[in-house]
Amino acid sequence: MKIEKIAESRWNENAWKGAAFGSVFSDHMLLVHYKDGKWLTPEIKPYGTLDMFPALHALHYGQSIFEGMKAYKGPQNETLLFRPEENAKRLNKSATRLCMPEIPEDIFLNGLNELLKLDSKWVPKEPTSALYIRPFMFASSNFIKATPSDDYTFMIITCPVQAYYTGEVHVKVETDYTRAAAGGTGAAKAAGNYAASFYPAKLGQQEGFQQLVWTDGDTHEYIEESGTMNIFFRRNNELITPPTSDSILAGITRNSLLKLAKHLGIKCTEERINLEQMAADYKSGAITEAFGAGTAATVATINSITYKGEKLPFTATKDSYAAKLRTALQDLQYGRSEDPFGWRKIVE
Ligand SMILES: Cc1ncc(COP(=O)(O)O)c(C=O)c1O
Repeated sequence: MKIEKIAESRWNENAWKGAAFGSVFSDHMLLVHYKDGKWLTPEIKPYGTLDMFPALHALHYGQSIFEGMKAYKGPQNETLLFRPEENAKRLNKSATRLCMPEIPEDIFLNGLNELLKLDSKWVPKEPTSALYIRPFMFASSNFIKATPSDDYTFMIITCPVQAYYTGEVHVKVETDYTRAAAGGTGAAKAAGNYAASFYPAKLGQQEGFQQLVWTDGDTHEYIEESGTMNIFFRRNNELITPPTSDSILAGITRNSLLKLAKHLGIKCTEERINLEQMAADYKSGAITEAFGAGTAATVATINSITYKGEKLPFTATKDSYAAKLRTALQDLQYGRSEDPFGWRKIVE
């Protein structure tokens, strides 16, 4: 690995506080080029601009994928990662779907480890803050023809962040626009999926909703995800969530919460969730909670769901499943509890 250190660190205690999520970047970035069918030597450099030609393939045809993960400060001031190999695996699944080359897991994981060692002071110490990590890969050939690129670039950049949602989360069920269709790219973390979601999300925000609940593209009768989070409901004493599919991103938080909930003795069921049934179960008092799960927001309590113009409010309680699972997950991530699952990795 080639390492070029920054001449003078940009870090200071308050550089990022109060800044918008993901807008202040740490000192270094990882860069690996793929040329002539192979990955070249990884490089770490000061965070900075990239040289590119206007014909850069990714700009025209959208062969661009990414991951989202976090590093946490533990009680001994150590830097902790949470199931990082799962992000490496998912990036490669996305790569396959977008006709891009897989990146060897050791390039991803060793590169990330070196980057975090160098920028460890950028991992915030505050209890709900973390260093957000953005690995991504894009097509970097220079030609404009609608065929896969020959060359690719894999990078990792990082940014210190505070909690994603600070206020209430009110969501609207989206039944006109579709995030991802059967057979499409919804199960991949493809940049284009997010581009397609911005317009309906903007319309929702204009109506006062923080997020949308995406529904299936065929019938709009089944719940898929909420914004960039997987969605969970509490139905009596059971946790329910839609099963993953080719239109739902298999969240690592989702998978972890299912395992944690079972560990805590909570019954979990993965089942397709019909909207009419959800509304009926809400009205009968069976469904009492809803929350989203994802790396950025961790476990985000949903304060209301609006479906067919009717607002279904949820009352937050201290002993909610969301609160229990948030505490259990964050205790694991920040190194405050035993790790029976072997999910934590120390950067060293
Ligand atoms: C569409 C979508 N669903 C779900 C998730 C949650 O995934 P994870 O828990 O791995 O962050 C994300 C965020 O990465 C996402 O973008």
